[in-house]
Amino acid sequence: MSGCKLTARVSGVGKALPERRLTNADLEKMVDTSDEWISQRVGIKERRIAAEGEYTSHLASRAAADALKMSGLKAEEIDLILVGTSTPDMVYPSVACQVQKALGAVNAGVLDISAACTGFIYGASLAWGMIKAGCMRNVLVIGSEVNSSVVNWKDRDTCILFGDGAGAAIFSAHESETEGVLSIKLGGDGNFDELLYLTNSGCRPFPDVAGRYIMMQGNEVFKQAVRNMYECAINVLEGAGLTAADVSLLIPHQANTRIIGAVAKRLGLPDEKVFVNIADYGNTSAATIPIALCEALEQGRLKKGDVLVIDAFGAGLTFGAMAIRWT
Ligand code: COA
Repeated sequence: MSGCKLTARVSGVGKALPERRLTNADLEKMVDTSDEWISQRVGIKERRIAAEGEYTSHLASRAAADALKMSGLKAEEIDLILVGTSTPDMVYPSVACQVQKALGAVNAGVLDISAACTGFIYGASLAWGMIKAGCMRNVLVIGSEVNSSVVNWKDRDTCILFGDGAGAAIFSAHESETEGVLSIKLGGDGNFDELLYLTNSGCRPFPDVAGRYIMMQGNEVFKQAVRNMYECAINVLEGAGLTAADVSLLIPHQANTRIIGAVAKRLGLPDEKVFVNIADYGNTSAATIPIALCEALEQGRLKKGDVLVIDAFGAGLTFGAMAIRWT
């Protein structure tokens, strides 16, 4: 140790998306909606839908394999696998266990995280904590969802919003005063548990709902999303001794372009500093941020020294953000 601070940097990223595309035109044939309404109100053009027999663990494992390849690490060097998901193949074994098996990551601890759309940021924050504490060197964090398995395809309020996919990032130990993860904020508010929930997904029965479906009060969720994502971003910037003017790229949870626009406007960020790919994939819950991170790197939108803020919001309520100086 050189007297430098122990922190974490992202050493590899990957993504996996099912091949099948469900367009707004396809949805027009399923429910009373229109491409115009979805494009203007939400900003989605199409979303990916998992094939029959393609599960959350398969997408997670593919994304993870790519992240591992980019990092140059061996599977045995992964100390912990954390998977943010609300649509696991089953409650146990966890998706993380399935990923461990697929990769041969025999030395890794394994854990799924239930924090809805904020799952990846919760995982990334725990990864940072374990690395900073000196307990671990390489933590694989994944967001993976097959939302199509819990969407009510007859409910136009929700079925147009969600898609399937996975993204992964490896957080590795890094000694630096200035680079890598700078600060985090995790939050929640269980008082708003009625705004967004998944019926028949646990021991509680929902006698009035014949299925496992996403239930949502859209416009209330919208307001909470804007407020909490803005506050989380400000919180991590303050924690890092920075302001919004220092941000090179904001990667927000991809739930609605109008939510993203409202958060960016409050932060005073111009469009080119905000990553948006919701048109292609819809809301892939815990997977939106790692998929977007992967694409931001593919597009050369992050370079050494840049300040990246990732910022998410989800059912619970849960919310959180992380500031990273890219290296
Ligand atoms: N197609 C066409 N019309 C639709 C529609 C659809 N798919 N869904 C709803 N509408 C209609 C409503 O019935 C309503 O009609 P009315 O005025 O005749 O009653 C009208 O559009 C407006 O509905 P409203 O719910 O007020 O729209 P909105 O502007 O709030 O947009 C959401 C709805 C869901 C897109 C928006 O609230 C949202 O994105 N919320 C956040 C959701 C979210 O991010 N969830 C996940 C969090 S991780």
